[in-house]
Amino acid sequence: MSEAKKRVVLGVSGASGAAIALRVAEILAGLQDIELHLVVSEAATCTFLHEIGPDALDSLIHLGYQHHSIENIGASIASGSFRTAGMIVAPCSMRTLAGIATGLADNLLIRAADVHLKERRPLILLARETPLHLGHLRNMVAVTEMGGTIMPPVPAFYHRPESVADIVEHIARRAIDMLHLSELPLANEWQG
Ligand SMILES: Cc1cc2nc3c(=O)[nH]c(=O)nc-3n(C[C@H](O)[C@H](O)[C@H](O)COP(=O)(O)O)c2cc1C
Repeated sequence: MSEAKKRVVLGVSGASGAAIALRVAEILAGLQDIELHLVVSEAATCTFLHEIGPDALDSLIHLGYQHHSIENIGASIASGSFRTAGMIVAPCSMRTLAGIATGLADNLLIRAADVHLKERRPLILLARETPLHLGHLRNMVAVTEMGGTIMPPVPAFYHRPESVADIVEHIARRAIDMLHLSELPLANEWQG
């Protein structure tokens, strides 16, 4: 890693919203000063296939500076000594949310999220399920209390989206902006 690069971890779990994960990765990969580290759950292979198509997961993985196997609990991103600017989990399933909320770090995605919480670094969870039961909500509270950010991928309409792609774009840019990687926001600002 060059001195100027900031490492960002993108965890992709098996909730609905593969297109959001792909767009977050595309935007981060397009930023010159970012080194993108990817970790993808088993279930996400299914959502990528179902929601986008057979080549989508490969496209995602190729965007990463490094793709870490979810089973590789000894990967760099499993350690707090490996400095990062933050982590986004997009989309974040209720299973992965529960693992993060309880510190049950039995795979690399959850371990990396756990590291971000313990190191007090930004952790943004695009937690996706609806409706939510009390357990989901309690897990969201627990992560919030530990310093994480729950950011469900809920569409906004004030920017007048004309397509699903517009909605995905706005959600992806808002999520990346939560990492405060630069002074200028990626998402369009509301001017009143
Ligand atoms: C097409 C599809 C869509 C899914 N959507 C969701 C979802 O929106 N939210 C969720 O919590 N789980 C969803 N699931 C279920 C998760 O994939 C499942 O709970 C899985 O065990 C999550 O594992 P992971 O957290 O390791 O990715 C979906 C599964 C499939 C196949």
